[in-house]
Amino acid sequence: MAKTHTHFLCQGCGYQTPRWMGRCPDCGQWGSLVEERVAGQRRVSPDPGSSTARQPPTPITSVDITSLHRVSTGLAELDRVLGGGIVPGSFVLIGGAPGIGKSTLLLQASIRIAESEGAVLYISAEESPEQIRSRGTRLGPLSDRLLLLAETSLQVILEQAERLRPRMLVIDSIQTIASEELESAPGTISQVREVAVRLMALAKANAVSTIVIGHITKDGSLAGPKALEHLVDAVVLMEGEEHQCHRILRTTKNRFGQSPEMGVLEMTEQGLHELANPSEIFLAQRPSGASGSVVIPILEGSRPLLVELQALVATSAAPVPRRVFQGVDGNRGALLLAVLEKRLGVRLSECDVYVNVVGGVRVSEPAADLGLAAAVLSSARNLPLDPGLTVFGEIGLAGEVRGVPMAEQRLQEAARLGLSHCLLSSHNLDRAQGAPSSLRVTGLRTLDDLARELEAR
Ligand code: TYD
Ligand code: MG
Repeated sequence: MAKTHTHFLCQGCGYQTPRWMGRCPDCGQWGSLVEERVAGQRRVSPDPGSSTARQPPTPITSVDITSLHRVSTGLAELDRVLGGGIVPGSFVLIGGAPGIGKSTLLLQASIRIAESEGAVLYISAEESPEQIRSRGTRLGPLSDRLLLLAETSLQVILEQAERLRPRMLVIDSIQTIASEELESAPGTISQVREVAVRLMALAKANAVSTIVIGHITKDGSLAGPKALEHLVDAVVLMEGEEHQCHRILRTTKNRFGQSPEMGVLEMTEQGLHELANPSEIFLAQRPSGASGSVVIPILEGSRPLLVELQALVATSAAPVPRRVFQGVDGNRGALLLAVLEKRLGVRLSECDVYVNVVGGVRVSEPAADLGLAAAVLSSARNLPLDPGLTVFGEIGLAGEVRGVPMAEQRLQEAARLGLSHCLLSSHNLDRAQGAPSSLRVTGLRTLDDLARELEAR
């Protein structure tokens, strides 16, 4: 065995250095460099002699894409976020807080794929096969082709996977698996990276679809190196609020999908189920007649969804007023508050402002700007909004209301859920021709138009 050597690895960004430093020169974090001892020769990239490395360049027209045929997981919402099912040989990372339902989700998908496609190897380092079986019995009929293995050694897992060549390999979770070639503890950055690289090589060489579960740290980011997210084909986050039963699946990256997608599931006594009507769930507990609450039609992915956005503007006692944005980007929120202050003269600089998208949904599209502005304005001026109102549109720095893509789909969803009036950019009015007649549509040019509409009630 070759001699052991040590190096220091930043736990934040993966920067590697032969000597210790108080501050990582790459990401600037203090005290993040941890000593890692490496025993023997280690190989982190796929074997250069392997079949993947030896293939000659191919003309693009001869590339076989039949392997891109996707396998359904049996859960339409999971298929949706993966871009239409699992691509054979793809490597997917599923992240989420403890207890959110990651193991349940993958056990359900594994049972289904074992039934329809062939062997699935489910590696669990956190639960015993007995625990997994007892959970599985709640989820429906079990399949003989679902193979369980309680194991933490990467080498054993690779050996078993090579031997069995399953259709799918599930690793629950990547932070608990360790390579015997490294001396550092499971979950450290070098272990996570090594495990991921070796599993990835296996997935690509043998077309074994691999799904790894990853834990999420307190700040909501995936524990482990950023490099892990670059390596994998797709990252799916599972989110939800503790005391509610719906769970949200969100892709933050997908090499095999068109756009970021969102899926909604419900956790029941018999595992996770599709929700026939997610918009209804998100609007179920809407207060009536309260200021600061507005319904917005969002399109995170290919499906429109109605969610409630709330704002609370209150006089601040603090020298620096508080700004809390949940479910919307803080920078975007701050920018919109500045535009409201400047263009409409809303005095926000002495007020605390809280914004929340109900149900744990995160909205990243600018189409939610108008909703945020309407909710803040409604709260600041204590103007309850019409409960049948919905708004969408992007806001520019000059206070202009700009058009957004896919206005028709948003209007259709609003009409389907019985809303009666929609405020949108006048640039989107041509798209509103086909809107159902039950929905009145008003085009806005600027924030002044918005203020006038809200006050007209
Ligand atoms: P789990 O999948 O173990 O979460 P994770 O792997 O993300 O830590 O799910 C844990 C929770 O889900 C647990 O509180 C029990 C609940 N649950 C149900 O409500 N219904 C079910 O059918 C199952 C299997 C779990
Ligand atoms: Mg689990």
